[in-house]
Amino acid sequence: MAERILKLLRKKGDFVSGEEMSKELGITRAAVWKKINALRKKGYIIQASPAKGYRLLKSPDLSIGDIKILIKGDIGREVFFYESVDSTNTVAAELAEKGTPEGIVVIADSQEKGRGRLGRFWVSPPHVNIHISIILRPEIEPKDVTLLTIMSAVACVTALRRVTGLKVTIKWPNDLIVSGKKMGGILTEVKSDPDRIIFAVIGVGINVNMDVDMFPDDVRQIATSVKNETGEMHSRTAIIVEILNELEHWYKILKRTGGKPLLSEWQQLTSTLGRDVRITVGKETFTGIAESIDDEGMLILRLPSGMLKKISAGDLTILR
Ligand code: BTN
Repeated sequence: MAERILKLLRKKGDFVSGEEMSKELGITRAAVWKKINALRKKGYIIQASPAKGYRLLKSPDLSIGDIKILIKGDIGREVFFYESVDSTNTVAAELAEKGTPEGIVVIADSQEKGRGRLGRFWVSPPHVNIHISIILRPEIEPKDVTLLTIMSAVACVTALRRVTGLKVTIKWPNDLIVSGKKMGGILTEVKSDPDRIIFAVIGVGINVNMDVDMFPDDVRQIATSVKNETGEMHSRTAIIVEILNELEHWYKILKRTGGKPLLSEWQQLTSTLGRDVRITVGKETFTGIAESIDDEGMLILRLPSGMLKKISAGDLTILR
């Protein structure tokens, strides 16, 4: 119901009379007033005029109602929202196990046990950042799973550039970087048979309105946020909507034409290729020039000996 009220208010962009609302929604005017007050409690600023009705002045910075209204395609048509969860990836995987179809999105305002790559903790305090997980059921082989991460990185960078104007780039495989610091990351987790993926959960974490001094000491040196870079607060709704719409766009391309267009877009958006890098893979460390990525999204590193080495996952530091 809250969504239908928001839809009406947004559609008009002006005052909507209590009578019109009660007719459209099939509820009494007193019930409309109650619903309006419930929305106000959630942070919506709604003007009320006895003569003209109600007008939406401002939405809270994270509005699930607005996300559902502004989504263009299938990804995000249904959203599960939580104030706090252990990890949105865990919740999404549980939903996927129960047969939840692809395109469903889990969003949490905060996470108690946010997970990063390589078993790291992902700082996820309330009211400031984005924590979302998307369930997909792509018909691709497990060896191509990196393409999902590549796709998500392309979608996130494009969305962040458009909404914030920042020159966000991708550090292989999936770090979202601004001014050499990490603004966000992607954790792709899959359940698969030997020859097919049963489901994938794409988890996206972006530091949006967080002040950098809120990060623990060890993270502060290497992390940044949209607010830190632009000096302004940004709407988490606007960024999430762009990410989901971009994902929709690229997922269609991946299904129709395979990974090639994605890989070439990724190469336009990365700050890794051509650089001297150090990569840690488990206990091994390699240095060399990040030369290219192959059709499966693996990084091709030119070692000092001149030999090429393919790397599927690891921790990459740009040296020069
Ligand atoms: C990385 O280490 O760069 C990946 C970070 C991914 C964090 C996101 S936040 C939403 C989703 N839920 C999690 O527990 N992790 C991912």
